[in-house]
Amino acid sequence: MDVFDKCTINMGPLGQYADQTEGYFMFPKLEGDISNKMIFRGKERLVWSLNNYLGLANHPEVRKADADAAARFGMAYPMGARMMSGQSNYHEQLEQELAAFVGREAAYLLNYGYQGMVSVINSMVDRKDVIVYDSEAHACIIDGMRLHFGKRFVYPHNNIENLEIQLRRAKKMTDETGGGILVITEGVYGMSGDLGKLKEIVALKEKYPFRLLVDDAHGFGTMGPTGAGTDEYFGVQKDVDLYFGTFAKSMAGIGGFIAGEKKVIKYLMYNMRSQIFAKSLPMPMVLGALKRLDMIRTQPEHRIKLWNIVNALQSGLKEAGLDIGNTESPVTPVMLNGTVGEATQITYDLRENYNIFCSIVSYPVVPKGIILLRLIPTAVHTLEDVNYTIKAFKEVKEKLDNKIYSEQMAEI
Ligand SMILES: Cc1ncc(COP(=O)(O)O)c(C=O)c1O
Repeated sequence: MDVFDKCTINMGPLGQYADQTEGYFMFPKLEGDISNKMIFRGKERLVWSLNNYLGLANHPEVRKADADAAARFGMAYPMGARMMSGQSNYHEQLEQELAAFVGREAAYLLNYGYQGMVSVINSMVDRKDVIVYDSEAHACIIDGMRLHFGKRFVYPHNNIENLEIQLRRAKKMTDETGGGILVITEGVYGMSGDLGKLKEIVALKEKYPFRLLVDDAHGFGTMGPTGAGTDEYFGVQKDVDLYFGTFAKSMAGIGGFIAGEKKVIKYLMYNMRSQIFAKSLPMPMVLGALKRLDMIRTQPEHRIKLWNIVNALQSGLKEAGLDIGNTESPVTPVMLNGTVGEATQITYDLRENYNIFCSIVSYPVVPKGIILLRLIPTAVHTLEDVNYTIKAFKEVKEKLDNKIYSEQMAEI
């Protein structure tokens, strides 16, 4: 057997559909300036798929800051990993400003959120420790735990009663091993838009000794009175021991950060292998992030605009009889009942006939019979976009209920 045999025999859970989906459902190309309308297959479409929550991706001030930094430093500087030769005053300044913004003593940059999270988890636990985590944890959390030699216990998504059961088990185990407990949740769940129950989780600290790590990829910049995140929204910043944010969403860039107590961040600086053995963030990313952070802090209008669109979209969809689940964040899922084939027809109809581009998820990512269309409202959407989309979704649901899509499939 050749290790390459799998490339033709079994392409994996997503790759198995490559022939039917590539270029349309998977790896689609969105072209033109990042905004509410972009080009897909040569035609302008209304796009609800980008995590450009605050509309900063193509903001003239941001574009200028990025371009100025690239002109001044190029894309290479600084060379090497932070620890070896890739340190700069600007990296440190960004860390200090991020820490202050999220109300922590210190922060450290991560040169991709994903790898960073893997290393945060890997560095914080050893074989004596136990991880307790939410069943809907993002892939980067799962991959971080794959490196963990000790035990891990999962609780069903946001089920606090069950979390307590897992904490009891973890406590019993760590009493024997002499280790500690790390609980991991997300602030905003990126598919369903519901929030990690941070208040309830934090309250359990009265009964069980644990540290709490929150992945707030979707909450940073969008949630809380100043946009500092989901823990600010719930007023529990003090009790979230490690706060993780990415620059890939509200910040419309690349990279991320981890924030917490000074001594813990110092420990992470010297132990996160994905940062010690990888190149430092280039200067346009760092100066660009400083600019974006400054705009988040000083220009609340972007967040206000975002939430105006979120509120109009979510209330309009609900009034139109569509099921948007339990979202409390900008992430807006629309749940329909149907088969994978119908999901394909709906996506095609939305893209080709309504010129609406949104992400779609069906079985096996969500339970059989559920179709999840995910809308990401942003500050660059308009109320006209919202009204148009609500009308389109209402029509699509009617067609689905009247079996139009399943009839179309029968004809193919
Ligand atoms: C919840 C969550 N955590 C982590 C990440 C990874 O962040 P990055 O894109 O910066 O690698 C993402 C996706 O971007 C995410 O949605």
